[in-house]
Amino acid sequence: MTSPGPWPAITGIAYGGDYNPEQWPRETWLEDMALMREAGVNFVSVGIFSWALLEPKEGLFEFAWLDDLLDLLHENGIGADLGTPTASPPAWFFAEHPDARVISREGHVMGFGSRGMASHSHPAYREAAVRIASALAERYGKHPAVKMWHIHNEYGVPVGEDYSPASVAAFRSWLQSTYSSLDALNDAWGTAFWGQRYEDWEHIGAPAVAPSVVNPAQRLDFARFTDDQLLECFKAERDAIRVHASQPITTNLMANQSYTTDLWHWAGEMDIIANDHYLTAADPNGHIGLALAADLTRSLAGGKPWILLEHSTSAVNWQPRNVAKRPKELIRNSMQHYARGADAVMFFQWRASRKGAEKFHSAMLPHAGTNSRVFREVVDLGAKLGAVAETQGSRVKADVAMLWDSVSIWAQRLEWRPSEDVEPTDTIRAYYEALWRDGVTTDFVHPEGDLSGYRLVVVPATYLLTRAAAENLTEFARKGGTVLVSFFSAAVDEHDAVHEGGFLAPLKELLGTTVEEYLPLREGVRAGISYGADAAVTLDGDVWQEDLALAGAEVKGTYLAGPGVGKAAITRNQVGEGTGWYVSTRLGAEDLRQIFADVYKDAGIVPPNPERDLEIVTRHGDNQDFVIAINHSDDAVAVNAAGTNLLTGEELAGEWELGAGDVAVIRAAAAPEGGGR
Ligand code: GAL
Repeated sequence: MTSPGPWPAITGIAYGGDYNPEQWPRETWLEDMALMREAGVNFVSVGIFSWALLEPKEGLFEFAWLDDLLDLLHENGIGADLGTPTASPPAWFFAEHPDARVISREGHVMGFGSRGMASHSHPAYREAAVRIASALAERYGKHPAVKMWHIHNEYGVPVGEDYSPASVAAFRSWLQSTYSSLDALNDAWGTAFWGQRYEDWEHIGAPAVAPSVVNPAQRLDFARFTDDQLLECFKAERDAIRVHASQPITTNLMANQSYTTDLWHWAGEMDIIANDHYLTAADPNGHIGLALAADLTRSLAGGKPWILLEHSTSAVNWQPRNVAKRPKELIRNSMQHYARGADAVMFFQWRASRKGAEKFHSAMLPHAGTNSRVFREVVDLGAKLGAVAETQGSRVKADVAMLWDSVSIWAQRLEWRPSEDVEPTDTIRAYYEALWRDGVTTDFVHPEGDLSGYRLVVVPATYLLTRAAAENLTEFARKGGTVLVSFFSAAVDEHDAVHEGGFLAPLKELLGTTVEEYLPLREGVRAGISYGADAAVTLDGDVWQEDLALAGAEVKGTYLAGPGVGKAAITRNQVGEGTGWYVSTRLGAEDLRQIFADVYKDAGIVPPNPERDLEIVTRHGDNQDFVIAINHSDDAVAVNAAGTNLLTGEELAGEWELGAGDVAVIRAAAAPEGGGR
């Protein structure tokens, strides 16, 4: 077995996209090579959906077209990210193994003619996937064009949970190795409730749709099991490739856009972290969601450079309203990912497909051809990324971390919660947006992860919080850190059981309060709060209040209306050398900024507070800082940064104007002091 080679395998910032030449005649490939060179493309992902072409019959491989393609790419100086095509098994596979088809929670058997793997637990699928991955690695492990391996595609999308017999059997084995005894399982799942107690492993099934709500602990374990099964599939292919090939191996995560996988779990198994991100067209501030995705991806990479493996040049084709990007938006979006640590900027896809389900999806080379705004911007972006090649490997640092826990999100999203209006990812986004607007760069951490490098840790919507995580946060504060916790956090433990001592009990020492009762609000009811020293500020919450059982915390804000009127809404508590803040209602980003202003003081953070819609992030090189300024507004904005704009060659000093929608990458004249992280 060989060990993984280092990234970067591409010099400078890698640039390109998914390339599916099998959809086009050979002449088009030659045109593609010329146009890719014109656009500065140096890296493409190939073969991701090519299983039926590579293995047209079981065990019969046809590699000639891929030999030709990889040679052609190499001759043109373009590296390949070679996919294993296991997200889309061929028709022969399903004909031979009809029982390997996925069954949905509702009991529907998934048909063919789309994409999505077969049952992740079916032995025939696993065997066939490893066979094709191995065959590819044996043939191309030493090919000079191949710079990286790309396993499967977006694990968990479109297929996550599988209720087929193969999956149910694997779930039982998973439960046996997790719990060892039925007594332990019955206890963890609380099966005394509704008479669910099990006396035989064979009686346990997957949590399929039932007459009423299914045991939440069972559903949570099924989500964990699903994640484990998907990861086992990844590892099996990865290990098969590693026998023959030394290039780094990755898969494309969907950091905050698909929630099937436990991201931290995967990060430890990948040689380099790669992510796909698509703007939510309905969100007018989609660029803030993008920044969140990029920060989360960088955090999964432990701060090391990462790869943006897919995003779109303009509209996608799978949202309710597929809004086209406005001029220069594709450049701003790309540069945001780059600013937040990506050393590769890639799109889905190079050439727009004429046929099939994705013909209305944008591409680097659109249906309109080269005489189009999108292609001109693609060429411009290639030049820009070429101009910042020296920044490769530089890193972003943050003083603030936010917790991210996929398992808590899974748990909170189950049925019969106190209010359907509370969505964990909305809360995460609101807290993130407040920090973004203040110009504060944020990392993400696992609740039980290392917090020691941060001044402030934000805990939005961590409904499920283990005792170990609570101790981690409390210890961080005892040693001088500041923690800010949102409503509806630390309600349950890892089995979705309410914490002994009640809601928030594990954080009582940190926050100086627990929750006596949740007070969800009727639709449309507002929860005004008077906040600040002389109640000078009024904040506007909604959806939720809590009746807090104060145990030492200082009251910073009081409810002005709603069932909690007159009671504590926002609290601050001294613990050891640090502080714990608690916000017991839902607030929007602008109101949260008022609270953050005080929280920063406790944390010793001076927020840069840039002009509205100006995004500034610093990448730190070994001897040099690079300041990336992105103007998301329709007006020119003033920027204060001295150095050379690598995109134009201009020398900048003092205050200067960044044009509407423009981007600058400044090699800083000197490392910024304080606040410049
Ligand atoms: C991604 C997927 C690509 C393509 C793209 C379209 O989720 O990996 O293959 O379908 O969406 O936006």
